[in-house]
Amino acid sequence: MVLSRSVPNIFLNDGHSLPAIGLGTYLVRGGQGVDQILSAIEDGYRLIDTSTNYDSEGAVGEAIRRSGIPRSEFIVTSKLPGKYHHYQDALMMIQESIFRMGIDYLDLYLIHWPLPKRDHYVEAWKALVDAQKLGLIRSIGVSNFLPEHLDRIINESGVTPAVNQIEVHPYWVQEDMLAANKSRGIVSEAWSPLGRGSAALKEDIIKNLADKYGKNTGQIILRWHT
Ligand SMILES: NC(=O)c1ccc[n+]([C@@H]2O[C@H](COP(=O)([O-])OP(=O)(O)OC[C@H]3O[C@@H](n4cnc5c(N)ncnc54)[C@H](OP(=O)(O)O)[C@@H]3O)[C@@H](O)[C@H]2O)c1
Repeated sequence: MVLSRSVPNIFLNDGHSLPAIGLGTYLVRGGQGVDQILSAIEDGYRLIDTSTNYDSEGAVGEAIRRSGIPRSEFIVTSKLPGKYHHYQDALMMIQESIFRMGIDYLDLYLIHWPLPKRDHYVEAWKALVDAQKLGLIRSIGVSNFLPEHLDRIINESGVTPAVNQIEVHPYWVQEDMLAANKSRGIVSEAWSPLGRGSAALKEDIIKNLADKYGKNTGQIILRWHT
């Protein structure tokens, strides 16, 4: 799928922006992963989403270097694993992500899950706030945070996340959570936007739209998102 040059930018509450469509790298690893990411870059993808949990940070960094495209044209996202929510651990893992990718800074960094029973996500958030001040991260955000988690980090740090990455697709529309993010000035970013290759890609209404517009069903779902 070649991305149109007209992929819109979404503006964040910190003045930065993200392209509306990006590439996820869950299960994208090693040399084969590098080739897969390079293929997406050739097709126009510039936002690349990884996580320390995915073990794909190395492949992301290698693909960016091999692409020959300036680092500054990419929007690189990674995420903090749950076992590193303590403040000092979080600061170390942010640096580890940067080292593993061989880049100088992260464009966007998210707390992967709040894990409220462990209850260390507030100090993790304060580490992201400080890492942003140190210039290690351009935009900071969270993932899988519910409204009560968002309000707690905002109240305890005075800093609102730029992004909350949550599961959204035609079978899990999450209207309430999208509204909760929006009312706080937080951009919602969808994970598993195709429903993990689920039956949504074979729904008659989506197949009919794909036939009508000469697209594949994945493209129709991405258009629904944007
Ligand atoms: N923050 C979080 O907690 C979280 C959680 C999950 C995912 N994510 C992020 O979101 C990204 C995307 O999520 P995801 O990989 O779970 O799910 P997804 O993007 O919804 O679906 C990916 C699957 O869709 C299939 N697919 C893609 N295009 C298709 C098409 N045109 N027609 C038919 N099938 C198609 C692929 O199947 P084949 O493999 O068979 O090609 C692939 O396995 C991840 O890579 C990760 O970066 C974040």
